[in-house]
Amino acid sequence: MRRIAWAVMAGLLWIATATAQSNFSPRDENPEDFPPGAGRDETFYACTACHGFKLVAQQGMTRAQWDDSIDLMIRRHNMPPPDDKDRAVVLNYLETTYPPRLPAARGGWQNPFAK
Ligand code: HEC
Repeated sequence: MRRIAWAVMAGLLWIATATAQSNFSPRDENPEDFPPGAGRDETFYACTACHGFKLVAQQGMTRAQWDDSIDLMIRRHNMPPPDDKDRAVVLNYLETTYPPRLPAARGGWQNPFAK
């Protein structure tokens, strides 16, 4: 009897672990991982349709260069072209958050008061 109880316990434990694992989302990035700002979520989802946002966040560019990057994504990678309004939202966020030669290039914009 004891032995069966243990087997049931072990089984339950195994199921619990298995379910916990299947709840894990393979997407390892969230918009919240990146600096807040107007258009962050829109930009995140526009770009992560194809690749991680870190690939975007590690760049620092002018608005014109970001604009070119979007054109490149459209031309070379078949990104569905955003309309003017969406493009402006995305560009505003990218220009503000990832300008050229940021000192903290990797983390993007850092709030100096956050510490
Ligand atoms: C339809 C798919 C798609 C979408 C949507 C997309 N990209 Fe890309 N992007 C790619 C692919 C594929 C690469 C792989 C690198 C390459 O060959 O340029 C890439 C690479 C990049 C690079 C690196 C280029 C380099 O020269 O190293 C940047 C920067 C970039 N994307 C920015 C963006 C931004 C910003 C967005 C959102 C506004 C975006 N991408 C949305 C497909 C996409």
